[in-house]
Amino acid sequence: MQTNSARLPARRSGVTVAPDAREAARLVAARIVAFMKEKPDAVLGLATGATMEPVYAELVAAYRAGNVSFASASTFNLDEYVGLASEHPAAYRSTMNRLLFDHVDIDKTRTHVPDGHASDPSAAAARYEAAIAATGPIDLQLLGIGRNGHIGFNEPGSPLDSRTRVVELHSSTLDANRAFFPDGRMPHFAITMGIATILQARRILLLATGPAKRDAVVRAHAGGFDIDCPASALSGHANVEWIVDAEAAAGLSG
Ligand code: GLP
Repeated sequence: MQTNSARLPARRSGVTVAPDAREAARLVAARIVAFMKEKPDAVLGLATGATMEPVYAELVAAYRAGNVSFASASTFNLDEYVGLASEHPAAYRSTMNRLLFDHVDIDKTRTHVPDGHASDPSAAAARYEAAIAATGPIDLQLLGIGRNGHIGFNEPGSPLDSRTRVVELHSSTLDANRAFFPDGRMPHFAITMGIATILQARRILLLATGPAKRDAVVRAHAGGFDIDCPASALSGHANVEWIVDAEAAAGLSG
């Protein structure tokens, strides 16, 4: 990574502030590459969303440069829309294939995304929770954050003890993700890992970039768990690093 001292990220307790979104994504990818070297058979928890796209591009570049292998890794994605075939371009399964899995040496049979197209989505959610319990714990969980503070698709109001389940998406989430559905036919339900499921990960890296995430970042750091800001649940986890760009960090003091 090319950097100079003027551009070194500022480190706060549990929060690393990068100068811009590109550098923040590079830092997250570098953390994952280093982690894979330490633990090649790691169980990774993965996230989707526009924020993650440069992270996966960095990981593909690192793989092509011979700096990382995913050959022995397993992955569990956080969430999936209900009612979309896995080949739908907006489905998180096809998104992960397109951004990462198709371009690295991962064994796709060890990549897991909730089955949003199952005839019984609640049963599929329960199976997913059981699969995480059987393979996990998740060693390193990557998280983004919604504008309303959601993690995965745990919307405001999600309890701390929630597990993988079917949830209804809030209107702000529908608005934020509408661009991925040019035909206007957007699912209103999703399967998501619960907050308790996420908190079981050994280590968590949350990436937030851009001014639209500023308020959610501030609310998540207000102290303690606020049910109206699901990301605040991370305050109860012992090994969480927030990597934020200067725009997303602008509301944090100190
Ligand atoms: C999406 C995903 C989340 C993601 C968040 C932010 O709806 N379910 O896992 O972290 O919302 O997405 P973006 O990076 O596009 O802002």
